[in-house]
Amino acid sequence: MKSSDIRKKFLDFFKERGHAIVPSSSLIPDDPSVLLTTAGMQQFKPYFTGKANPKRDFGSLNVVSVQKSFRTSDIDEVGDESHLTFFEMLGNFSFGGYYKEEVIKYAYEFLKELDLHIQYVTIFRGDSRTPKDEESKNIWKQLGIQDIRERGREDNFWGPTGNEGPCGPTTEIFIGDVEIWNIVFNEFFCESDGIFKPLKTRGVDTGMGLERLAVALQEKKNVFETDLFAPIAALLPRGLNERTKRILADHSRAIAFLLSDGVRPSNKEAGYILRRLMRRVIVYQFLAENTENKFESLPVLERVVQDYSNFYLELNAQSIKEEFNKEDEKFRATLRRGIRELEHAEFLDAATAFHLYESYGLPYEIIKDLGAERAQLLTREAFDGEFKKHQEKSRAGAAAKFGGHGLLLDTGELKARDAEEIKIVTRLHTATHLMQAALRAVLGPGVRQAGSDITAERARFDFTFERRLTNEEIKKVEDWVNDKIKRDMEVVCIEMPLKTAKKTGALHFEKEKYPDTVKVYSVVDAKNNEIHSKELCGGPHVEHTGDMGHFRITKQESVGAGVRRLRAVLE
Ligand code: SER
Repeated sequence: MKSSDIRKKFLDFFKERGHAIVPSSSLIPDDPSVLLTTAGMQQFKPYFTGKANPKRDFGSLNVVSVQKSFRTSDIDEVGDESHLTFFEMLGNFSFGGYYKEEVIKYAYEFLKELDLHIQYVTIFRGDSRTPKDEESKNIWKQLGIQDIRERGREDNFWGPTGNEGPCGPTTEIFIGDVEIWNIVFNEFFCESDGIFKPLKTRGVDTGMGLERLAVALQEKKNVFETDLFAPIAALLPRGLNERTKRILADHSRAIAFLLSDGVRPSNKEAGYILRRLMRRVIVYQFLAENTENKFESLPVLERVVQDYSNFYLELNAQSIKEEFNKEDEKFRATLRRGIRELEHAEFLDAATAFHLYESYGLPYEIIKDLGAERAQLLTREAFDGEFKKHQEKSRAGAAAKFGGHGLLLDTGELKARDAEEIKIVTRLHTATHLMQAALRAVLGPGVRQAGSDITAERARFDFTFERRLTNEEIKKVEDWVNDKIKRDMEVVCIEMPLKTAKKTGALHFEKEKYPDTVKVYSVVDAKNNEIHSKELCGGPHVEHTGDMGHFRITKQESVGAGVRRLRAVLE
C-alpha cells in the first residue's frame, strides 16, 4: 500500500465513523510553550480543555488528522533505522464524544482492515498518583488480545507537550515489536508546576507514525526503504555511507517542510534548529565535493516537494531553493574557516571538537572523519559529555570547578567542597526556597529576594523588608518551613521558556540574568493539589522534602536600608 493510500484510508475510516477531517496545522504552533509542533493533539489543546467548542468549529466532537510533526529530541539519533526529525502523525481525537471502549475498538478494527497482526499491547500499571487502567485491559481482553503488558508512568503516561497541557494514561499497540499506535486518555490537565487537575470533559488523543505504519505495510526493514524516503535517497550517490544518506534524506524532508511553514534559519528557537539541519546538509555536500560521491542538495529538496506536494499544498520548490542557497552561501565561509582550524589542531580531544562544533557548526562525525589519527581518542560519549557540560553551564549559569583544593560545586549561590557538602547545600537550598515562601506567607508578598549564599555551614538569605522581625514572626517562619518538610512534599522541576516561566508567577531574582530556557522548581503537595513554592532556579534541589531535617533560623541582621539578612541551618 502506497503511503498516499495509507493517509487516505486512515482519514476515510474515521470519516465513515463520524469524524470531521481537520487539515494538519503548521509546524509553527500557536502554543508558545513549544518551539515546533510535536504531535497531532497540539492544535486541539483548547478543545481538550474546554476553551474552544469542537461542535461549532468542526461540526463534531470527533476529529481525524494527518499532522506534520517535528521532534527536536531525536535530532542526534537520526541515521539509525527509525529516528526522524520530521514525521507525519495519523491521529483520531475525541473531545467528550467517545472514550476507552470505542477508541480501542476503532484501532483494533483499523489494523484488522489492514491485515496487521497486533503483537502485544501495553496499559498503564498505576502508581501512587493515578490508578491502574483496568478498563482498557478488559477491553483488550474482550477483543481477544492475549499479550497485555503493564507498564509504568515512563512508558504509559502521556505528559503535556511543552510545560502544561492535557495528559493521562495511555495504551499502546505494538506490531512486530515496534510501537505503532499510542492512545492517550486525557483525564487531567497538567499545570506548569506539575499539579494534575481533572479535566471537565475527558478526551481521547491518538497518534500513529505514518512512517512506521508504512514499514509494516510495505514489509520493509526500516523507514528509509519505504516510499516515503526511497525516491529521495535514490538521488544520493551509492558510495555514500548509509548513515549519512539517512541523515541527508531526513534533514532534506525536514528543511523543505520547515521552510514552507515560514521558519527561517537564525540563531534562536525554531530558526536555530532549521539552521542546524541546513548546515549539516551543507557540510556533507561540501565534503563530498571533490570525491566520487559528489552530490547536489537542491534536486533532493525538489524531490521532497514532488513527492509530498499532492497532500501538502504549501510546499514550494522555488522558495525552498532560494532559502537554501542563501544559507549555503553564508555558511561556506565559516565552514572553510572551521575546517582550516580543524586541520591545524594538533590533537582533537572532546573540548576542541566541541569548540569546532559550537563555533563553526562542524558535526561530530565530520570532525572524527577529517581528524583521522588526531581524533582517534575522540569518542561520541566524551563529545556528548562536553555538550552536556556546556548545556548545564549555560542553564544554571554555574561554573563547576574541579581539583583537590578547589570547590567541587560553585553555582554562585551554592558552594561545596566534596560530595558530602553537595548533599548538605542541596538540602539547604530547598530550605531557602521554602524560607522565601514562608517569609512571604508571614510578612506579606512585598518580600523579595535580595541575595542568597549557601555553604555547608548555613544558608544566608537577604530580602526586602523594612524592620526587624519579631521573635514570633521568626518562629512562624520556622514552623511554616518545618510543616512543609514534615509533610514530605515532592520537588518538581520543569523546563520552559523564560517568558512562560515568568507568566506562571514563579519567583525570580530581578538582578539575575537568566538564559532563554529556564528551570522552574516547585514544592508540591500532590495529594492536596497545593503548591507551596515556585521559583526560577538552576538547582540542585532535593527530590522530596521529607529527609531534610529540622529547620532553624540562627541569626538576623540588617544589611542596608530596607534589606534584612537571615541565617538558617538544618539540624
Ligand atoms: N500525543 C500522543 C503522542 O504524540 C498521541 O497522539 O504520542
